[in-house]
Amino acid sequence: MTNRFDKIATEWDNKPSRVDLANKFCAKVLSLTNLNQTKIALDYGTGTGLILQRIQPYVSRIFGFDNSEEMLKVLQQKIDANNLANVEIKKHDIDKEIVGKGEFDLIVSNMTLHHIKDTQQFFEKCFEALRPEGELVIGDLITEDSTFHDPPNLGIFHLGFCSDDIMELMQKAGFIDVSVEIYHTIKKEDKEYPLFSAYGKHP
Ligand SMILES: C[S@@+](CC[C@H](N)C(=O)[O-])C[C@H]1O[C@@H](n2cnc3c(N)ncnc32)[C@H](O)[C@@H]1O
Repeated sequence: MTNRFDKIATEWDNKPSRVDLANKFCAKVLSLTNLNQTKIALDYGTGTGLILQRIQPYVSRIFGFDNSEEMLKVLQQKIDANNLANVEIKKHDIDKEIVGKGEFDLIVSNMTLHHIKDTQQFFEKCFEALRPEGELVIGDLITEDSTFHDPPNLGIFHLGFCSDDIMELMQKAGFIDVSVEIYHTIKKEDKEYPLFSAYGKHP
């Protein structure tokens, strides 16, 4: 057991709000991008694959990277049970390794950015991993007051983000056609947590 996600992996998919968010985020990805059966995609911070399994039918191959072995084990069970031949998973830590070099047409990442300390490096590594005209779609929280996660808040480096900062990080990494919008709001105990989607393209 090395991180908080290892401990909650087997229960991750049981929360209906996570599945609902995955549906909303993937609908946003499909509306922002131009996917077809020739494209190679990566779901970064794939976890149990809630995003990966919804994007998989629209692309030729999809990779899932994550640094939690236990989350990836749950995903591997889904791959085996559903005979998903075009899916490959890899234990990967963004803090220590490159993501790739010109390998992907699409990178998606949902609710992972706030767990990554060096966000500029994350965008630079995604940029390096994309092919020319490759697309990136990130989903995460708009700045929150630290009440979103139940304690213990281990492994959370950012209490959400403001749209302008995300745009700046992406443009600085080299992305063009950058846009950020609020696409959904999670309601929890009378509080509202808006979520953004950020889109950028490799030139
Ligand atoms: C909040 S979960 C989101 C999982 C999935 N994207 C979803 O929407 O259900 C964040 C994921 O990011 C992964 N993660 C956190 N920090 C990471 C890092 N430094 N490198 C790779 N993966 C990381 C965690 O293991 C976890 O599976």
